[in-house]
Amino acid sequence: MITLAVETSCDETALALYDSEEGVIGDVLLSQAKVHSPFGGVVPELSAREHTRNLLPLFDLLLKKTSFDIKEVDFVSFTLTPGLILSLVVGVSFAKAIAYTFNKPLVPVHHLEGHIYSVFLEGKVEYPFVALIVSGGHTDLYLVEDFGRYRFLGGTLDDAVGESYDKVAKMLGLGYPGGPIIDRLAGEGKPLYKLPRPMLDKEDLNMSFSGLKTAVMNLLRREKEVKEEDVSASFQEAVVDILVSKSVRALRETGVRRLVVVGGVSANSRLREEFQRVSEEEGFELHIPPLRLSTDNALMIAYAGMERFRRGVVAPQDINAEPNLPLEEFGKLWT
Ligand code: KG4
Ligand code: ZN
Repeated sequence: MITLAVETSCDETALALYDSEEGVIGDVLLSQAKVHSPFGGVVPELSAREHTRNLLPLFDLLLKKTSFDIKEVDFVSFTLTPGLILSLVVGVSFAKAIAYTFNKPLVPVHHLEGHIYSVFLEGKVEYPFVALIVSGGHTDLYLVEDFGRYRFLGGTLDDAVGESYDKVAKMLGLGYPGGPIIDRLAGEGKPLYKLPRPMLDKEDLNMSFSGLKTAVMNLLRREKEVKEEDVSASFQEAVVDILVSKSVRALRETGVRRLVVVGGVSANSRLREEFQRVSEEEGFELHIPPLRLSTDNALMIAYAGMERFRRGVVAPQDINAEPNLPLEEFGKLWT
């Protein structure tokens, strides 16, 4: 079975063709980072405009690159939720147009579910497992009992971790997206500054990152002669400490010994290193996608779409994009 997958929830326009037997046929992706960089974050209207402008040329490129006849596709997978509503609408409309034109079924995917299943593109993970999703919009821990059965364990009460990377980068005048820049600078600096680890002393699995961001702002106001490398390293150490500690606690509380770490921030080199070390020390199984599958892409949407279609789930042609449907609820509705 072959699916065409469409992903436009934020600032990446991405399409993929995936075969359940043969694997990846091909994928294309266009990042809008340059468009949003002067603003230090994603501008929703610009994002939707760019998706509209780029989807058709990317679709042509995908078909040309793979010499694939679109009539051979069995169904169309697409990101239904969550994301920037205007951007989602562009992708959903495109998916509907292709499905309608070629008379193919439509299969909805939750963006976070896509991230979770990005690790399956490299090899299956046994159920149950704990998933830490760390992206520009989310920082959540889930217990994944099966495909579509997601139990929320805890998450950030304020900023998402990727968002705090981007905001700290903006404070330092480093550009967007801030995560990869801070990651690189941190490697050249030392964690000299003591920054708070909010909620680490709390027994639950919730987290908070806005206080950490404010602490960085106060540090920059207080100290005139700071090196951005050292600020980056200090901020990153605090982030890694929070994410690793809460994930280990989630494994202990659920009694599960498999952890999946996904989403844009899972590309972080220090986070990967620390999770690797702790997984060996604590003896749990660790799965992190390769870098190109950590950040937004359409292959992860294709994989999750394939799992859903296999279970017989198909959406009506008049389905509409949703800005923020929780993953747990989505799983119950569509599985
Ligand atoms: O999953 P993603 O591509 O899009 C969303 O669904 O939000 O995640 C994007 C986020 C951005 O905030 C970006 O700064 C962050 O992932 N990011 C990183 C790294 N690469 C991307 N954060 C830390 N270290 C990185 N290497
Ligand atoms: Zn994402």
